Amino acid sequence: MRPFYVTTPIYYVNDVPHLGTAYTTIVADALRRYHLLRGRDARMLTGTDEHGLKLEREAVARDMTPKQFVDEMSARFRDAWPKLLIEPDDFIRTTDERHETLVKDLWARIAERGDIYLGHYEDWYCVGCESFKTAKDLDEHKRCLLHPNLEIERINEETYFFKLKDYETKLLDFYDAHPFIEPESRRNEVISFVKSGLKDLSVSRTSFTWGIQVPNDPKHVMYVWFDALSNYWTSLGARLRDRYWEPNGEVVHLVGKDILRFHTVYWPAFLMSAGLPLPTKVFAHGFLTVDGQKMSKSLRNAVDPLRLAATEEVGGPDGLRYQLLRYVAFGQDGDFDHQAMIERYNADLGKNLGNLLSRTLGLCAKLTGNKVPSYKATALEEEFLAQARVHVDAAATAWGALQPHRALEETFALSSLANQYVDRAAPWAEAKKGNQERVDAILALLLETLDALSVMTWPAIPRKADALRAQLALPPVAPALGKELWPSFSFSRAGRTLGAASALFPTVDKDLEKVLLDRLQPKTELPAPAAPTTSTVPGHPSAAVASSAITYDQFASVDLRVGLVKSAKRVPKKDKLLELEVDLGEEKPRTIIAGLALSFSAESLVGQRVIVVANLAPRDFGKGLVSHGMLLATGPSEKLVLATAPESAAPGAKLK
Ligand code: MSP
Repeated sequence: MRPFYVTTPIYYVNDVPHLGTAYTTIVADALRRYHLLRGRDARMLTGTDEHGLKLEREAVARDMTPKQFVDEMSARFRDAWPKLLIEPDDFIRTTDERHETLVKDLWARIAERGDIYLGHYEDWYCVGCESFKTAKDLDEHKRCLLHPNLEIERINEETYFFKLKDYETKLLDFYDAHPFIEPESRRNEVISFVKSGLKDLSVSRTSFTWGIQVPNDPKHVMYVWFDALSNYWTSLGARLRDRYWEPNGEVVHLVGKDILRFHTVYWPAFLMSAGLPLPTKVFAHGFLTVDGQKMSKSLRNAVDPLRLAATEEVGGPDGLRYQLLRYVAFGQDGDFDHQAMIERYNADLGKNLGNLLSRTLGLCAKLTGNKVPSYKATALEEEFLAQARVHVDAAATAWGALQPHRALEETFALSSLANQYVDRAAPWAEAKKGNQERVDAILALLLETLDALSVMTWPAIPRKADALRAQLALPPVAPALGKELWPSFSFSRAGRTLGAASALFPTVDKDLEKVLLDRLQPKTELPAPAAPTTSTVPGHPSAAVASSAITYDQFASVDLRVGLVKSAKRVPKKDKLLELEVDLGEEKPRTIIAGLALSFSAESLVGQRVIVVANLAPRDFGKGLVSHGMLLATGPSEKLVLATAPESAAPGAKLK
């Protein structure tokens, strides 16, 4: 078996980990775990993408150097993943020296091939995508289709080009000969894009400096995608390259559908040019919505994967992983619905798997002296095992085919089958008849199935799978990795004393459901500040799970007042922000910076009576812009509705 090398995109650090990025990273971790279970050498890579104009500007907006900014933000990703039980073998940063050195090598190899030449670029650039655009990529208002809220920028500068056009036929031949792009629909999309004709690609910039310098021409920095895509290769270094890269290793890149082209056109062309083997597969997954809503930046911040992972009532990190892996078909768009999450937790983890465990252990306590009994099959057991093996094999096939949702369907089908089997075999009735041999056989089979389920669920819910094993008095999975561990129903544990039973997935009743929904569902979206909100910072007090009820004193500590908007104007270069002067009945109006610009023109706000949080600590937006309060509103950031007061309310009046 070839080593398996799975990668996630490296994430831009102007964002914090959110459900979308957590999703890909969880899938990668689960795949790595599955292959390890099969005794395979498996490696997972994730990391952060830290160069480019977008990040340079974000840093400037916060009065930080780019390096300070990326150091602080990258740490949030590194620290987040273990909380979701994700164990990457490497976490690469594009500011790592090891990366920079090898990217320069890669550039030099491509330049030596004669595939890079100096020229002049004049066209459009979207900083949101960090991508060059031509008129046909823009809408009728000359805006990027993916980032309509950002100004598109005109670039007119000296640049190095990569001879992408020369790779048209080579790429098409490669797609033809290899199952390189999945799913099929995405493959067709890429093929028709390449067939429509490629243009040489601008791969350097001179108008900013936050990037890796081009060898022998320090006034150019490399195009951020050249730098970023190379991470999959640079992470391995000279030491691990032969082991994990093609042709020895199977290289699988997981990406979102929005960044497919970079991975299936540019990246293989760079590698071909450098004379290096291409990755085995690029798999593009879909986009997640939350409770049916598109994940705007404010919604992304409101639905914090770390807060979900801290919600032990629905299984903690295992519960979150299970929901994402099982209920989003990998490759398609999916929805993360809080209510459905609780229902599925109850049904699958609580009533199906959890119940199988507690029933079985309860019966063993009563009927086998809490020991694993010996096994002697009848036709009923043979029938069960034949069906069970079908699920075990199908789950393996699905994991191997990058279909975690199918793998978990099969896994939980096995658990359902075992629950049905207990009812059919009725060990309690056999016990009444004094038929201990039957009782033993039935319970031995159930224990063996639970053992199998603890292995099969481990890629998805590793911590709970080990807890299940502890109740069966089995050791955790990790120390045994290195050999084939996929279930084989060998019945080798007779005589062993079982562990202590406890509810693995206590079900959520209606009252608790309400409390959890109150706590987790984002109901009201406040205008998003331009900076990442602190609510997603691990360890920050506001990241603590909110209690559902507060005292009157807690409420009264928020100073809510009526404010009259006296003037409003846009904040230059900040597409979401407005700078308002708001009369709060004080000596002079307050300056409030609000994330309202996607929903309101500046003029439409003048004269409105708004609700202001008046005692919020001032917030510095850089460049002398300090906000002294916050307005209340509801809705997604493109469609906000302001909380307002009637004309009879005087500016400065307190809400209570
Ligand atoms: N830095 C680049 C990737 C470079 S890889 C060599 C980048 N970063 S990103 O942080 O903007 O996005 C990373 C990934 O998050 C993308 O694969 C994108 O598809 C994914 N997602 C962002 N929002 C998402 C959802 N709402 N749902 C699922 N995935 C989403 O692009």
